[in-house]
Amino acid sequence: MICLGIEGTAHTIGVGIVDGDCSVMANLTKMIDGSKGGIHPREAANHHAEHIVPLMNEAMAEAGLSYGDLTLVAFSQGPGLGPCLRTAATAARALSLSLGVDLVGVNHCVAHLEIGRKVTGCSDPVLLYASGGNTQVIAYSGGRYRVFGETLDIGIGNMIDKFGRTTGMPFPAGPRLETYARDGKELLDLPYSVKGMDVAFSGILTAATQLSRSGSSLEDLCYSIQETCFAMLVEVTERAMAHVEKDEVLLGGGVVQNKRLQEMVRIMADERGATMFVPPGPLCVDNGAMIAWTGVVMHEAGIRTPVEESGVRQRFRTDEVDLPWMM
Ligand code: ATP
Ligand code: FE2
Repeated sequence: MICLGIEGTAHTIGVGIVDGDCSVMANLTKMIDGSKGGIHPREAANHHAEHIVPLMNEAMAEAGLSYGDLTLVAFSQGPGLGPCLRTAATAARALSLSLGVDLVGVNHCVAHLEIGRKVTGCSDPVLLYASGGNTQVIAYSGGRYRVFGETLDIGIGNMIDKFGRTTGMPFPAGPRLETYARDGKELLDLPYSVKGMDVAFSGILTAATQLSRSGSSLEDLCYSIQETCFAMLVEVTERAMAHVEKDEVLLGGGVVQNKRLQEMVRIMADERGATMFVPPGPLCVDNGAMIAWTGVVMHEAGIRTPVEESGVRQRFRTDEVDLPWMM
């Protein structure tokens, strides 16, 4: 089994190639420049259309394969931005039809979970998925991956990137925020927004932007944003772990590369007698290998996506996915 997976839900187009044991033979990504503002879906889709074929050729070369060696094609069917999803889906359909191999449409959030389970060796975790556009706490329960908590407004990474834009940081702002935060000394008052199992970030963004305008230091602001937002994430993750009685916590999404977030989750896990698992960075962010691997898992469980059913699903919910491989 050799599967090529295409990721294209938002600002990243990715091509990954994995074999039946999840050995990653290539995993290349290209991201649009997000420094000028939010993502424009049409512009992002044009970017993906421009780069998808060169990226596939590059990935094949890196894997030392020719197209005839592929036995499966997988793609991110949703959730995401319509034009971006359609670009990735079109490439995937064309490739599978021309090679005469099966096609599998993959849920992006489930892919973060499946690649994490495979490469870290955890079996039944609560996933804290914190990326640019998404912030969710997901776990397997009652035959489905269910969302136990999520953001009520923007993803945590979006909040960080927007704050970075107003304070002159390069895009994406996450790594710079982490560096500044190390020199922060004072914990500033930001709204701690946990509502039941859900979180919200736009109030924190407004408050932090106002504090920045009135002269608070960038170091203190970055430190306070991290401490406040990460405490919120840890709180809802811990509550989900207690509720579903699981003793593994898996991290996914670009924001979890933050060492302070990892430290806070590790402390929470240790105190509960649980274990934290973190996939390597390139498999945490949006990437093609996670789509390819989830395609392999689904295919082995008998799932195929005929071209007639391969339309994209912008609002594809995590708990809509059938999981025959978990039975
Ligand atoms: P999705 O489509 O799943 O929402 P995405 O493409 O928006 O994902 P990812 O590629 O998973 O996001 O992650 C990018 C985000 O991670 C950006 O918002 C970036 O600022 C943030 N990020 C990266 N490194 C760090 C870090 N060290 N600390 C905090 N945030 C970080
Ligand atoms: Fe993602």
